[in-house]
Amino acid sequence: MQISISNTMEEASALAAKLIEDAVRKNPFTVLGLATGSTPLPLYAELVKACKEGLDFSRVRSFNLDEYYGLAPDHPQSYHYFMNENLFSKINIDLKNTRVPDGLAKDVPAFCKAYEEEMKAAGGVDIQVLGIGSDGHIGFNEPGSSPVSRTRLVSLTHSTIVDNTRFFANEAEVPRQAISMGIGTVMEARSCLLLAFGKNKAKAVKGMVEGGISQFCPASFLQMHASAYVFLDEDAASELQLKDYYKEIGAAR
Ligand code: PGA
Repeated sequence: MQISISNTMEEASALAAKLIEDAVRKNPFTVLGLATGSTPLPLYAELVKACKEGLDFSRVRSFNLDEYYGLAPDHPQSYHYFMNENLFSKINIDLKNTRVPDGLAKDVPAFCKAYEEEMKAAGGVDIQVLGIGSDGHIGFNEPGSSPVSRTRLVSLTHSTIVDNTRFFANEAEVPRQAISMGIGTVMEARSCLLLAFGKNKAKAVKGMVEGGISQFCPASFLQMHASAYVFLDEDAASELQLKDYYKEIGAAR
């Protein structure tokens, strides 16, 4: 894992965006794995800026990590809607090249299998963007998720439901299930860029970076990934035992 600690989330996001921009410049057919939530918003703002300045996304393909089960693509809290609002409508990506799991899939196992196959046919994900839940989840891979899990229907933990209530009118409206890429799926991406900001993430970040590798902190499996980049602000890094060391080697880079 390469840990990068910035003063602000905007600075951290600009560093992460640069990796994506360089990849797209080098390979216009880059396959991106995309995430939703509050965390990637400043990153997406950077990509929108890069597109305005001439970066071409027209041949980029994308696969989103997850979608709430039961929400239609036009539901304002669906991840389809989020992606259209915050990224797809603001860059010149071809919507035909974008995929978000179908929250209304009737035959879920068949849908999940086809999603995995489509990712494989696209050549696999080059760069996977990730956030982290306060319970250590990546995607909706909650504590207990197997390291070899694939895209499937999952149940949200109570802590995720509480965290995500802020996007809904009340807790009862938060969907209880989602379709999510598995840990095994995420681990096959050529690079992973995980971003985490704020004190609320400090404990999960500590578990991910300095804890033992365990399904009780699914993000800790990224310790086994050959090319995992972690971008933190000071608050998210605040519980790291080796914080000063990560900063020193970061400055040397
Ligand atoms: P957040 O969610 O970006 O809204 O904090 C991250 C996550 O749950 O993965």
